[in-house]
Amino acid sequence: MSDLTQSMRDVADRVYRQLDELLRPVEGPRGRVIDAMRYACLAGGKRLRPYLVMSSANLFDVKQKNALRVAATIEMIHCYSLIHDDLPAMDDSDMRRGRPSTHNEFDEATAILAGDGLLTEAFAVLADGATHDDATIRARLVLTLANAAGIGGMVGGQMIDISGDRSNLDLAGISELQRLKTGALIKFSCIAGAILASADDTAFAALNNYADDLGLAFQVVDDLLDAEGTAEEIGKPIGQDADRDKATFVKLLGRDGARNKARELADSACARLDLFGDKAEPLRQVAQFVVDRRS
Ligand code: IPE
Ligand code: IPE
Ligand code: MG
Ligand code: MG
Ligand code: MG
Repeated sequence: MSDLTQSMRDVADRVYRQLDELLRPVEGPRGRVIDAMRYACLAGGKRLRPYLVMSSANLFDVKQKNALRVAATIEMIHCYSLIHDDLPAMDDSDMRRGRPSTHNEFDEATAILAGDGLLTEAFAVLADGATHDDATIRARLVLTLANAAGIGGMVGGQMIDISGDRSNLDLAGISELQRLKTGALIKFSCIAGAILASADDTAFAALNNYADDLGLAFQVVDDLLDAEGTAEEIGKPIGQDADRDKATFVKLLGRDGARNKARELADSACARLDLFGDKAEPLRQVAQFVVDRRS
């Protein structure tokens, strides 16, 4: 097993335990929504965003227990976005992470509430004193995540993605859509360590630039896998973008062009990290993983 595979697995195990602790099952009528939140969060997934949080925290002198709580919150937000993305009103996907999507396993209303529950809980966890002793740092985490998840980030990108204009976008339009839809949460993950450490502007700039390239590379490959992966491998339906006539990098550049674009972006991402030296090796490796992944 490669070093990266081993350390991603290690982070995934720790994030699982953290999420399991934060989202405790309850008895009684509220139990079903928490069961659905646990269903969406506790099985499968690459845990890429938590891995980015832990790796960015390791560039600095950040307590692991603090970073792990932040890693869990970004995974909660990501899982909420996936639950809602799969709903019949959005992508109408019946499979996620190799299992029935949350609305299929439970029901639509419960899935909507489970997404709402994860979104809200993530902010409660960030704001809690256990996330950092310094309230200013907690407030900065809350504000940065709110901006990344909201209308200036993931929600805004999802709106453009489902809008009628989506099939006519050019490369610049697709890049902007993806920057919001996928890039924003990835960017939060990459700078979370710098926020926890109150790092200087140079460190923030480097991580922001790395995240811009990485986030775009990530979504280019997501679109490629939709075009050329198998449902068994990627654990979700394939061919949905083409079926809906969505403009993607794959449609505009072809598969080879899209793959080359993803590789160029990953190389560029790695070059942004020079000032961190060897400490940034996990972030460099993960950029290559994002391009080479098959799921
Ligand atoms: C899928 O994200 C949704 C997008 C933002 C493109 P991931 O590919 O990270 O999904 P999981 O967490 O591994 O299931
Ligand atoms: C959704 O993008 C990204 C978010 C949930 C914000 P996609 O619709 O392409 O994601 P998949 O392919 O269903 O995972
Ligand atoms: Mg979608
Ligand atoms: Mg989808
Ligand atoms: Mg997709």
